[in-house]
Amino acid sequence: MAALDSSAINPLLTPYKMGKFNLSHRVVLAPLTRQRSYNNVPQPHAVLYYSQRTTRGGLLIAEATGVSDTAQGYPHTPGIWTKEQVEAWKPIVDAVHAKGGIFFCQIWHVGRVSDSSYQPNGEAPISSTDKPLTPQIRSNGIDVAQFTPPRRLKTEEIPLIVNDFRLAARNAIEAGFDGVEIHGAHGYLLEQFMKDKVNDRTDKYGGSLENRCRFPLEVVEAVVNEVGAERVGIRLSPYAEYAESGDSNPEALGLYMVNALNKYGILYCHMVEPRMKTVGEKVECPHSLVPMRKAFNGTFIVAGGYDREDGIKAIAEHRADLVAYGRWFLANPDLPKRFALNAPLNKYNRQTFYIPDPVIGYTDYPFLE
Ligand SMILES: Cc1cc2nc3c(=O)[nH]c(=O)nc-3n(C[C@H](O)[C@H](O)[C@H](O)COP(=O)(O)O)c2cc1C
Repeated sequence: MAALDSSAINPLLTPYKMGKFNLSHRVVLAPLTRQRSYNNVPQPHAVLYYSQRTTRGGLLIAEATGVSDTAQGYPHTPGIWTKEQVEAWKPIVDAVHAKGGIFFCQIWHVGRVSDSSYQPNGEAPISSTDKPLTPQIRSNGIDVAQFTPPRRLKTEEIPLIVNDFRLAARNAIEAGFDGVEIHGAHGYLLEQFMKDKVNDRTDKYGGSLENRCRFPLEVVEAVVNEVGAERVGIRLSPYAEYAESGDSNPEALGLYMVNALNKYGILYCHMVEPRMKTVGEKVECPHSLVPMRKAFNGTFIVAGGYDREDGIKAIAEHRADLVAYGRWFLANPDLPKRFALNAPLNKYNRQTFYIPDPVIGYTDYPFLE
């Protein structure tokens, strides 16, 4: 087959051993929220969506999945804290496994990127802070999202949230996932602790870099103890400024985290490129993830604005072990094959990224003939 013929010269199509997982290529499905899990329950149409994007020995990361009933901030995002949700994930995971894929679940808490309508009893969302988030333009570029001012978590409540992540990880394994990716990126709860433009605490979870990283690292430790380091990855975006979550020294933050993660021996670190400073926009910038890549002992996955050529270069220059593709994989279910053949790509349609339709913009992107 032509797909295999090209592999000798295309680093993206070379095999890679990630812990106990034998990957047949380096093209990873990035976590992509699709808002088609009605009432936070994964739906049967996700079976087709994920299985379309599965290759034998390919790594897929599932969309951000809520760890508890306080974790949501968007309509129809899936969860993994109830029995019903765990059962609903099973046929989706089975379909990926039936085609030989390796499937990780991204476990998530939005923190203050929420409003009271998503919260139990209409309460305020929780965060590291009580600083409100100013209204943000939604990713469709038209609508404006409003947020309820958050409630600052008390010091003694933080172990409860750590426990939610632990239980979600256990549930993900129960659902059949091969592992979990802790969502520590994009301005959500873990970043609201890590980043000094948000975190204004004065307890042991605020102030110094060490203190700001304490909660995310407690989550890592709890999840590692629950499911084993060989099943745990994390996503970080030290340079991103989504949802007003910037940091005054992103490189120091990224380096501190990877060095701390090394102590737990987790499987992978998945970092978002500095050029993805704002949602959906790629900006040229002088920063690079190379210092973090060099410091981290496990598998290093990069994401953010990659195309085929760029991905080939990142692997060839050893700047990454794997490259995660978001929008191109969303629109091209057979992306690894297209990269192998250097075939043209379907364009993605932003208007259908987050609509609840079970087919349109979801499972109807065409495959190569
Ligand atoms: C529709 C859509 C949904 C996304 N959902 C998530 C998500 O659930 N979790 C996450 O960490 N990133 C999410 N992202 C970010 C992507 O994983 C990826 O980092 C981003 O799209 C940049 O990569 P790309 O240039 O290959 O698209 C999302 C992006 C898009 C376009």
